[in-house]
Amino acid sequence: MIKVLFICLGNICRSPMAEAVFRHIVKEKGVEDQFVIDSAGLGDWHIGNPPHQGTRAKLDELNISYHGQKARQMQANDIEDFDYIIAMDQQNMDDLSQFSYQASGVTVKKLMDFVDQPKEQNVPDPYFTKNFDYTYELVKEGCEQLFAYISNKHNLDIN
Ligand code: 4NP
Repeated sequence: MIKVLFICLGNICRSPMAEAVFRHIVKEKGVEDQFVIDSAGLGDWHIGNPPHQGTRAKLDELNISYHGQKARQMQANDIEDFDYIIAMDQQNMDDLSQFSYQASGVTVKKLMDFVDQPKEQNVPDPYFTKNFDYTYELVKEGCEQLFAYISNKHNLDIN
């Protein structure tokens, strides 16, 4: 299994959106049986909550499922359990350093690192910007490029 964990601060806006969009792509490509896809937050404020209304509205508009998704906080054992940990911004990357992942085999990168000439280096936080459309645009591009990277690296036979 290829295990991918998306990370943001609250796990209600950006990383649940990325989780849903990435799962949608993986299903379209016919390789969902080869993936474990999850998301988590660095903060604990929203544990157990569904995605933010703005994230749900955007995913509903696009018929992208977020069924069953609930916020959880990143745990130290996630470093061992996942192959790819994908952060939304540099603050997440700085916060992730507390888990000393460098000694493990996990790849820890920002979503925008997978995009050629990205419009942004960081996925803006719509909890503060209120602009879920722009965040989605970046998340979609990032997830498509992340999937291309992983499918190439793991030689996946895709649709
Ligand atoms: P997210 O957005 O990291 O994209 O889920 C946030 C949601 C909530 C908070 C911060 C960011 N908060 O401070 O409660």
